[in-house]
Amino acid sequence: MPEQQIKWDQIYRNSDITAAPATVLRQNACLLPTQGTALDLACGLGGNALFLAQHGLETQAWDISPVALAKLDDKSQSAGLHIQTKPVKITPETFSHQAFDVIVVSRFLDRSLASAILDALNPDGLLFYQTFVVDKLTRSGPSNPDYLLQRNELLTLFEALTLVYYQELSRIGDLNAGNRDEALFIGQKT
Ligand SMILES: C[S@@+](CC[C@H](N)C(=O)[O-])C[C@H]1O[C@@H](n2cnc3c(N)ncnc32)[C@H](O)[C@@H]1O
Repeated sequence: MPEQQIKWDQIYRNSDITAAPATVLRQNACLLPTQGTALDLACGLGGNALFLAQHGLETQAWDISPVALAKLDDKSQSAGLHIQTKPVKITPETFSHQAFDVIVVSRFLDRSLASAILDALNPDGLLFYQTFVVDKLTRSGPSNPDYLLQRNELLTLFEALTLVYYQELSRIGDLNAGNRDEALFIGQKT
């Protein structure tokens, strides 16, 4: 069993965190198509997947943790939603020529997937991405800098997309206000 699976299974088995959609998705839900396919990549408890399925999208949710996915299956069934969950250690090969109208990635960073994510977007498809930055202010998120975004890095990783929305507040102004820990990105394949 992969080390990451053991780690994340243990976190989800012992935690009472609830599934919630990422801010970048919730606050920009008006951009979502009314029908089509969606992927919540490294979904955890699937807050994004539930949100996408509620919006009428045919939704897949992939994660390395079967414990998290079992909780998502329970939640989607009791909400009367269909979400196709896939327990998998995600690599570029996982996409295997599938394409989606919407891909959401929150609080997960594996730079080696960037090109597979781009390829997996349908024409006009949207990528919503939100994750931690290297100069975050709080202790939330990973401490290993390999899993933290450099300044403006999402703009470079996904420069092939047309930029729709970007927020990275950095350390400008009143540090007690605003999300200083994460960068938020939306891009469209045009
Ligand atoms: C910080 S959690 C974020 C979960 C969810 N996207 C959210 O925003 O709540 C990171 C997730 O990535 C998953 N993960 C880590 N490495 C992975 C890998 N190589 N393949 C698939 N999932 C992975 C973990 O199981 C965990 O659910």
